[in-house]
Amino acid sequence: MSETVQEKKKVIFSAIQPSGSFTLGNYLGALRNWVKLQDEYNCIFAVADLHAITVRQDPQKFRHNIMEAYALLLACGIDPQKSPFFIQSHVHTHAELAWILNCYTQFGELSRMTQFKDKSQKHADNVNAGLFTYPSLMAADILLYQADLVPVGIDQKQHLELTRNIAERFNGVYGKTFTIPDAYIGKAGAKICSLQEPTKKMSKSDENANSWVAMLDTPDVIMKKFKRAVTDSEAVVRVGEGKDGINNLIGIMSAVTDKTPDEITAEFEGKGYGDFKTAVGEAVVETLRPIQERYNDYIKNKDYLAEQYKSGAEFALRLSQRTLSKVMKKIGYIAK
Ligand code: TRP
Repeated sequence: MSETVQEKKKVIFSAIQPSGSFTLGNYLGALRNWVKLQDEYNCIFAVADLHAITVRQDPQKFRHNIMEAYALLLACGIDPQKSPFFIQSHVHTHAELAWILNCYTQFGELSRMTQFKDKSQKHADNVNAGLFTYPSLMAADILLYQADLVPVGIDQKQHLELTRNIAERFNGVYGKTFTIPDAYIGKAGAKICSLQEPTKKMSKSDENANSWVAMLDTPDVIMKKFKRAVTDSEAVVRVGEGKDGINNLIGIMSAVTDKTPDEITAEFEGKGYGDFKTAVGEAVVETLRPIQERYNDYIKNKDYLAEQYKSGAEFALRLSQRTLSKVMKKIGYIAK
């Protein structure tokens, strides 16, 4: 390139909770895009294990899920040489800044979060303070790294909005301290729906296991789930109103093959839904196969994983400590 002044790359931060079994929806909607962002941006990624204890976790399963999440993201193509990638609980600045930001976040603001309202209904027996203040921890994650952009799905948009409000409020009182982050709206971050109720988002909390594909499902299981996918009675592979099931399958096919819906319609002209569902299943199996292979290698290699998450945490600590120290100084804390 001939430019003399190199523009500084923007910083992207994102994190995912280690909730066990990431779905095809997680992959096509989010994780795959994270991988693509790594060249163009300074990306920082984390496994959000502090957020995860807002619902009760079984210690053994939790430990496994954190490790699985870390290994699976590496297998997807997160490259820790390019993008610091760490486990949130390993970097103590997150919990510290979260406490501070809690004191700059209003009860009313947190009360208006739709996710809090939903989750407190779902887990009515455990409406803990962490569930309530979850967004301040998320704000800390983002603001510690002075992130410019945060790729978020629709369900996290309100939390990002709140993060901006908290940051602006703090900056208003103490002068510019935090970068105000924007939502990163990616190109067609595919929205993948349930295979059984295709108006709903694909979700691993769905009781019907046939409705979602786990990234680590075996090829047999994946094929079975696609063969059972809900369709319609028209028997034409095309995008159309009232064809939610087929629309979703075309969306998945398009996401994994990079073909347009029109190309897919042309390819399956005169063929039945049975053939189409088999083809989508096979395309998904082939997309996930190399990821599953890499995952199986990584998960066996605990030393390698530890090396990666430790060096990720070291880097993240150094970077985030700068922001935390600045914040504490501005508030009036005494430096140690
Ligand atoms: N709350 C997010 C989720 O459940 C995960 C998350 C935690 C996150 N910290 C973040 C996402 C910071 C973006 C930025 O999906």
